[in-house]
Parts: sequence; C-alpha cells; structure tokens
Amino acid sequence: MFLKNCWYVAAEPHEITREPFGRTICNEKIVFWRTEDGDPVAFEDRCCHRRMPLRKGSVQGNILSCHYHGLQFDVTGKCVHVPGQTTIPPGAQVRAYPAVQKYNWIWIWMGDPALADEDRIVPYPWKTADDWGDKGTYFYVKSDYRLIIDNLLDLSHLGFVHRSTIGNVAVAEAARVRTLKDDDSVTVARWTVGKNPAPTYQKMGGWTEDDIVDRWQIIEFRMPGAVRLFTGAAPDAAEGQEFGFTEIDRDVPKGGFGFHNLNFVTPETATTTHYFWSNAYQIDGKPITPEMTELQYKQIFTAFHQDWEVFNKQQENWDDRPTIDTIQDAGSIAARAMIDREVAAERETLAIAAE
Ligand code: FES
Ligand SMILES: [Fe+2]
Repeated sequence: MFLKNCWYVAAEPHEITREPFGRTICNEKIVFWRTEDGDPVAFEDRCCHRRMPLRKGSVQGNILSCHYHGLQFDVTGKCVHVPGQTTIPPGAQVRAYPAVQKYNWIWIWMGDPALADEDRIVPYPWKTADDWGDKGTYFYVKSDYRLIIDNLLDLSHLGFVHRSTIGNVAVAEAARVRTLKDDDSVTVARWTVGKNPAPTYQKMGGWTEDDIVDRWQIIEFRMPGAVRLFTGAAPDAAEGQEFGFTEIDRDVPKGGFGFHNLNFVTPETATTTHYFWSNAYQIDGKPITPEMTELQYKQIFTAFHQDWEVFNKQQENWDDRPTIDTIQDAGSIAARAMIDREVAAERETLAIAAE
C-alpha cells in the first residue's frame, strides 16, 4: 500500500534523543534513539525475544537494552548480550532502518537498506539558509496522506479556506494554471496577475488591500510525499513571464517577497498521517528578523491549521463512492496516478524477488 524504497520524514530533531521514542510509519512500529555522537538510529519496535516494544527500553553508550529481560542491541540491531549466558542465540537481531538527519529533519528509509541513497532526499536548503527566515512544525492528521497532497496541488482552495490569511477570491477565480508531469514529479504553476494581495501578503509585502500585485504559486510534488511550494508576489512580476515554469521561484523580484515551503506527509496508517512542514520567506530589501520570521510562521500556521480541520472532516466522510473532478484537480490526479504506479511497480519487484 505504501512505497517503501524512499525517504520519509520521521521526526523533528528535538523528538529524537537518548530516550527511545516510538512512532508508527507506513504501518510499521519504529523506535528511534541517538548514539553518543548524536546520530539517529531506527529499529523495528519489537524485541526479537518476546516482542516487548523496544521504546520501553533504555540507552547506555551505543547500546539499546530491552526493558523486559535486558537483551542488548548495538546500532546495527544485532544482539550483543543476553543476561545470564555467554552465547547469542542465532537470529538474535532486530531490524535496523537507515536514518539520517538532514535539512533539520530526521529521515527514515523504509525499504531495502542497500538502496538507501541520501542524495534522493528532497532538497530543502532554505530551512538552514542565512538569507531566508524559516520556521515550521508538525501536525498529526487523521486522514489519508493523499488528501494532503490533493490539497497542496489544488491551491484554488485558498480562495475559500484561507480568506483570512493567504487567500482571496482572485486566487480561485482568476489564476492561469498549467500542469507539467515527468517521471518522478508533478508541477502545477499558477499565476494570478494584477489583483489585490491576500491578507498575509499585505502584511509581508507592506501593501494595502487596494494595491495591485502579480502572484505566483509554483507547486512541485515529488514521490512519495513531498510538496514544495515556491510562491510570492510583486508588482509586475508576471511581465515577460511565459505563465509557466520560470526561474522566479528561485529569486524574489524587486519590490516583492517570496515563500519557499516544504510539506512532507508521512503515512502512519491508511487513514492517519504525520504532516511535517516548514516555511521560509525573503523580502526584497529587508533583513531577516526574528519578528518577521514569527509573523510569517503564525500566518502560515493559522492557514495550515485551517487545512488540518478540512483533512480530518474529509476523512470522516470518505467512502468508496466515486467523487467528481474539476479542472483544478489535474495536478492531484497526476500525483495519485504516479503514487499508484510506483507502489504497484515496487510490489511487482518485491514479488519477483520473493519467487
Ligand atoms: S522481550 Fe526483550 S528481552 Fe525479553
Ligand atoms: Fe491550504
């Protein structure tokens, strides 16, 4: 049901300490801890002796000890000590998952460890870049992770759910929208040209509700659960643009500001999700300050919490009956097809390997 040979965000760094920490990812119970050097470690949360959850254990040095009968495991998951005996039973091992800390998140690889290549982690350098102010958090969502991907790929909802913050009617009614697909990503480009700025945009850009700006929203989905948003506004930003996929997502044009936002949705189960997000901003001609970082965080938190309420309510109503689609759904339909295709291909590969 879930793609396994890929990196998922598993936790925020502060959550993983020398105290074992448990979290379910893709229906698998995992225990996380850190070595003496601070490296994250991830094990199956189930002792190979009598199935005690290892999250109840304790860490000494680079050893995790089970709470029940004290079996000790090194960072590879290998049992290295059984109290009261000098030999280690064959097969005394718990599964260890590749885990790394990057872009200020803890990432886990749920599939074949031999394929875990750190270069495949979706880049989000703005989280730690000096010239971007960034802050984000974690939401626990009681919905299918794909509902969150749908939401991010169809930003027409900003005109309804987020009118008090990042949205206004123009974003839903007047945007020019294009969708681009390649082998492992779907990108939706939206341009709303010559319209009044939304409330958050007034605050960030120093505009009034009567000012006129061009607004871009470049939304990029990457397998299995990453959605990067490159958004912003400036007067006349659309001049000379092809209304498509431009370099405007990299630079903030004169007189404007930009957001770079990473959303990473990690399935817990089929109907629950760990939603990690972070939002970076840059304003032309203005320094990054803690006050502005906090202002943008509060605005985005309010908006994303509005989405959180939507996801939970949608899931309560979800059933097997077909839904209808609108023209705005092109991106999310393409992303869901990509997920289905990749999951089926991975299952087929695993089935062939098992024969
Ligand atoms: S269940 Fe873990 S040591 Fe017995
Ligand atoms: Fe939203």
